[in-house]
Amino acid sequence: MLGRKKAKPQVDQEQLELFKTAQRRIKQKRRLYYHFIVFLIGAVLLILANTVLGIGQDFTLFGREWFVFAIGLWILLLLYHILSVFIINRFLGKEWEQQQLDKLVSIQQQKIDKIKKKLEKEEKLMVESIHREHNVVNDGTHELTIIVAAGENDAIGKDNQLIWHLSDDLKRFKSLTSGHHIIMGRKTFESFPKPLPNRTHIVITRQTDYQVPAGVIVVNSFTDALEKAKGDPKPFVIGGGEIYSQAMPYAQKIELTRVHHSFEGADTFFPKIDSSIWKEENCVTHDKDEDHEYAFSFMTYVRG
Ligand SMILES: NC(=O)c1ccc[n+]([C@@H]2O[C@H](COP(=O)([O-])OP(=O)(O)OC[C@H]3O[C@@H](n4cnc5c(N)ncnc54)[C@H](OP(=O)(O)O)[C@@H]3O)[C@@H](O)[C@H]2O)c1
Repeated sequence: MLGRKKAKPQVDQEQLELFKTAQRRIKQKRRLYYHFIVFLIGAVLLILANTVLGIGQDFTLFGREWFVFAIGLWILLLLYHILSVFIINRFLGKEWEQQQLDKLVSIQQQKIDKIKKKLEKEEKLMVESIHREHNVVNDGTHELTIIVAAGENDAIGKDNQLIWHLSDDLKRFKSLTSGHHIIMGRKTFESFPKPLPNRTHIVITRQTDYQVPAGVIVVNSFTDALEKAKGDPKPFVIGGGEIYSQAMPYAQKIELTRVHHSFEGADTFFPKIDSSIWKEENCVTHDKDEDHEYAFSFMTYVRG
């Protein structure tokens, strides 16, 4: 009939495996059958060679003609073949190997899962102890937030600059961080032409005589930066790569702008967001348009 589609055969993986096994068994049995026929013909020829053609008539072993031993050996070979087809290949063949392998893999997987759970527990305890040690309050009134824009491959920068220009992202950055303390590494600070208005800059450096414009706070460690931002209920960590990595265990929130492109050649990256620790709370996607070269999503993560 016109327009009627041919039904597609639905063969699932299990059926396919059964089919392959059946094919393999048929081949094995066919080879055994041929072996048996060759044996019968061969045995007759050996007897004829000795008794009719007289080959090796003078050669006897324990008073018996040589063909008796030759046929005996061949019978042993045939028996081994029968054994391997009906016992070894059936019970210890490829299927058996696969089953044993699957069992081993599942045992290993269980062990890996156990170790993973243990590590997650330890990491949680470590973060809690860091928070206790530095009096980081998790009551929602004091929320250290990481704010970052990262490509699909977690790229965040190249040659101490951002790799893209997304005006809506900059607007969001401005509206979220305005009026707050912004904590950054020395390199990120130097990537700005001048300090950002209406925000208190805390710059982390190991240098003891680092010179900054008036109003900018300089500290020599990340925890000192936290100390300086204590009075702010919502300080932000604004980068770059080195400081983000150090901030991860202290932060309660991540405001991520995921730029939907993989930026090859980047030299700075955001650390992986561990889904066992961070839960996605919100996601708003923005399509590519004439003002935005790439599509992007504003994503909010909170500790799970
Ligand atoms: N896409 C985004 O959202 C975003 C945001 C921010 C930055 N970025 C990009 O990230 C890149 C910069 O990141 P980065 O990793 O190279 O540098 P960074 O994290 O901005 O700064 C690194 C510097 O911070 C200081 N520092 C780091 N750990 C310290 C510690 N424990 N104690 C004291 N000082 C410490 C050191 O300064 P000294 O060398 O002076 O000791 C170090 O050289 C740039 O490409 C920038 O454009 C991207």
